[in-house]
Amino acid sequence: MIGKTLLLGLLHRGGCVNDAIVASNLRKRFISYERIGFIRRRKIIVEALRGGVSFRVRWGGEVYGLLGPNGAGKTTTVKILATLLIPDDGYALIDGHDVVKEANVVRGIIGLVLYPDKGFYSRLSGYENLVYFGRLYGLSKSMAEARARELMNLVGLENAMNRPYEEYSLGMRARLAIARALIHDPPVLFLDEPTIGLDPISAREVRELVRRLRKEGKAILFTSHNLWEVEEVCDRVGIINNGKMIIEGPPRDIKDMLGLKYVIEVEVQLNGRVETIREETVNPAETLRRVISDAEARGLRISRIRINEPSLEEAFVRVIGDEGKQVR
Ligand SMILES: Nc1ncnc2c1ncn2[C@@H]1O[C@H](COP(=O)(O)OP(=O)(O)O)[C@@H](O)[C@H]1O
Ligand SMILES: [Mg+2]
Repeated sequence: MIGKTLLLGLLHRGGCVNDAIVASNLRKRFISYERIGFIRRRKIIVEALRGGVSFRVRWGGEVYGLLGPNGAGKTTTVKILATLLIPDDGYALIDGHDVVKEANVVRGIIGLVLYPDKGFYSRLSGYENLVYFGRLYGLSKSMAEARARELMNLVGLENAMNRPYEEYSLGMRARLAIARALIHDPPVLFLDEPTIGLDPISAREVRELVRRLRKEGKAILFTSHNLWEVEEVCDRVGIINNGKMIIEGPPRDIKDMLGLKYVIEVEVQLNGRVETIREETVNPAETLRRVISDAEARGLRISRIRINEPSLEEAFVRVIGDEGKQVR
């Protein structure tokens, strides 16, 4: 009894009775038209989400990565969670609030980056754009200005405060879009492919920003088709394909579940000749020990050892590959 009370007390104190995000068996169909012949069109039903999309994101700075190829259903999922689309079936809650029935409450809790480049005024500076959006959110002039300054700092654009938006690079625009999504300081943030089209350095800056926001305690849903990127910033990952969630867990567990192999490369030298021994293994420590003792037994000198961790990319190809076979 005491245990239960204590537990509830702790939950309340942390404000985390509910999960930040809950998606349950989401299903969404689109009606579309396909051209057949010169004039005729045929109605087709696109099953964007097939009912199996369920996941949770907890409070306390969790980044959840929704990973999948083009057309998998990532954006559709984000749009449902962000109240922009109504699911045909299933439900979604943000901090316990239903995204359909309590859409207005939900909108106050979330920040959304869907199309990073949309809606900014090109002649205004980044700072002025943020002040404008702050005013739209009902902040007073001085509050909007203070918030805009704070956010420009947060996203690392303090040196570009007064430059017109049209002069911003893609990377700067991506960070400004995240700043805009944070105007009302929402505890939940949706980032739909925030690094798409960015050069590697800008993409890294965006990922660093995501990590910073996570430290601040924001619950973040991050979508991507870039596997190592998700592995780098996300605590948990869901792989989605063809409108279905295929596998879910921490990146490391996903790799383990799939029995992905480490690659061990041991470079050896014999009579001035260099040779590389390469082995794939699920148990790198044991394999490495064996390779080393074999090499020593043969009188080889070891000049270099490399252990390559299995990448999520491999998991992805494997899972999607299997799934693809089932569907087709
Ligand atoms: N408004 C729409 N009308 C018709 N089909 C759509 C619409 N939006 C998305 N789709 C289809 O739904 C599927 C999932 O799309 P989406 O959620 O955008 O995938 P992702 O973001 O993972 O690339 C795709 O087949 C896409 O073509
Ligand atoms: Mg998308």
